Amino acid sequence: MILVTGGTGYIGSHTCVELLKNGYEVVIIDNLSNSNNDVVDRIKKITNKDLKFYFGDVSDKELLRRIFTENKIDAVIHFAGYKAVGESVKLPLKYYDNNLYSTICLCEVMKEFSCKKIVFSSSATVYGIPKTLPIKEDEALSTTNPYGTTKLMIEQILKDLYVSDNEFSIAVLRYFNPIGADKSGLIGENPNGIPNNLMPYIVKVALNKLEILSVFGSDYDTPDGTGVRDYIHVVDLARGHIKAIEHVMKQTGIDYYNLGTGVGYSVLDIIKTFEKVNNVKVNYKIVDRRPGDIASSYADVTKSYKELGFKTIYTLEDMCKDAYNFAIKNDI
Ligand code: NAD
Ligand code: UD1
Repeated sequence: MILVTGGTGYIGSHTCVELLKNGYEVVIIDNLSNSNNDVVDRIKKITNKDLKFYFGDVSDKELLRRIFTENKIDAVIHFAGYKAVGESVKLPLKYYDNNLYSTICLCEVMKEFSCKKIVFSSSATVYGIPKTLPIKEDEALSTTNPYGTTKLMIEQILKDLYVSDNEFSIAVLRYFNPIGADKSGLIGENPNGIPNNLMPYIVKVALNKLEILSVFGSDYDTPDGTGVRDYIHVVDLARGHIKAIEHVMKQTGIDYYNLGTGVGYSVLDIIKTFEKVNNVKVNYKIVDRRPGDIASSYADVTKSYKELGFKTIYTLEDMCKDAYNFAIKNDI
């Protein structure tokens, strides 16, 4: 049985679907601070399987103890946390408090119940401004905002935890840029307010809910001058968690894995592909660079392939089609 913190969120919900499809039993804890509990029924509908949902905060140790008492948890996938980069700059304490404190509480209660297998959601943001491309897991680590720093600090906490107790088995997954949605259109990404990230913004422009996409910079040292990222279909990302769970079940240790496709696409590639596969127009204008952005980021996926056997299967076309399908079906 797998405990999924933040399991009603964007990546968590897709991972719950994959877990259920692969025969795992699933328990979710989520405080619904950035999600909706109808996601639970949607996961059940997609998979035709049941799961347990606990409403509450991961920093509520009494609730965690109740969950571990009422269920035989074999491993935890820890998604819960805040993730908005801009907000983290304005409200750093909110981010340090939620992301760090909830992780500490979770690890304490896991130890109490001798559950020592954990998969953690980290981010490519821990690579800061990468010196080499594609980015390998042993690239130097640094951050440029409090959100990223919480990820790096949690990686350190987990490392120290392993050093203190070698029975732990920890997989730290560094996600590149997840986009897209489940084919059913029942679950997907629905950010509050005006989106900061590229794909949710494109979707809203395509649906005429926002007027025009600003392309942040066309003078980067990239093939067409716009920023290059490693976009990964969220269902592929979810599949990566199954591999990570299999890995932590087999051995102890702490390991770090990139989850991406290994291929970089530019902002203009994304716009063109989105227009083509969905037969819509995405109005855009080139504006100045966004402060803090880097030119290119894409993963070296050799390690996750060799050690986890993880390989993506979805294309950029699938990502664009599925993101739009979710938006249309849910009136995003
Ligand atoms: P999300 O906001 O959709 O999901 C996070 C979930 O955690 C939400 O349902 C929220 O309600 C819940 N939550 C937050 N704090 C909680 C707490 N203290 N107790 C209980 N529930 C809590 O985000 P996502 O995109 O699914 O991201 C999941 C994880 O992956 C996050 O840790 C995020 O930082 C990380 N990540 C995301 C991306 C991305 O681009 N989406 C990239 C790299 C890393
Ligand atoms: C985001 C996160 C980062 C996280 C990463 C992977 C922010 C600021 N950063 O970065 O912490 O690790 O995802 O999940 O949220 N773009 C535009 N116009 C827009 C929006 C974006 O041109 O309106 C461009 C950006 O300049 C960039 C690319 O699109 O080149 C992707 O941007 P975005 O989706 O915000 O992701 P990242 O910048 O990679």
